[in-house]
Amino acid sequence: MANKVRFLGHAAFEITTSGEKKILIDPWITGNPLCPLKKEELKDPDLILITHDHADHIGEDVPFLVDGSDAVVVTQPELLGKLQEAGVAEKNFIFGTGMNIGGTVEVAGIKVTMVQAFHSAGVGSPCGFIITTEDGKRIYHAGDTGVFADMKLLGQIYPLDLALIPIGSVFVMDPLQAAWAVEMLKPKKVVPMHYRTFPVLVQDASEFAALAKEKAPEVEVLVLEPGQSIEC
Ligand code: NI
Ligand code: MN
Repeated sequence: MANKVRFLGHAAFEITTSGEKKILIDPWITGNPLCPLKKEELKDPDLILITHDHADHIGEDVPFLVDGSDAVVVTQPELLGKLQEAGVAEKNFIFGTGMNIGGTVEVAGIKVTMVQAFHSAGVGSPCGFIITTEDGKRIYHAGDTGVFADMKLLGQIYPLDLALIPIGSVFVMDPLQAAWAVEMLKPKKVVPMHYRTFPVLVQDASEFAALAKEKAPEVEVLVLEPGQSIEC
């Protein structure tokens, strides 16, 4: 079976891997105006990846999502205290300690590499993730970031099947920077995220899709509605 990637609105995604593991990335469910699902429908994932300490990424549902399960939360050490206060058990953190940029961890046959992102955060440094699923497919979630030239390097080290990148401007890359990012990353497919959620953000993906087609015509741009899935 292929990996299934479901867009949950904003920067939130659920991946059901080829080995039938569930990964949630930035699960801002409760309060996310674009998320069509309830937290109950996403309970007990195998992995939760959190890119940074902002409310639209860390959300408030992580304690509920992992409660009573062996779910592994992958994030930086600085976020652990905050999540523990919210009720997440120490045993649910990767190695009990968290991880950091440059590192790769393997959980249930899935490799997760934490990579840099340029943004701000309450505590810790914002990051992105490169996920290598059991069948060797690679998925990059850029987190919140501006464009950076080392995206080219990341694409070279980790040839990407799919990239999930922010395009909404104001807090993250705008459509022009995002199109340059696509050209550097050279994924097979790209899905835009982090737009439309708030009135100040870019409201649709049409400008990004047109610019990406110009800059990197070989990359397939897939614009997903919240709740919609693609295979990878
Ligand atoms: Ni942010
Ligand atoms: Mn954000």
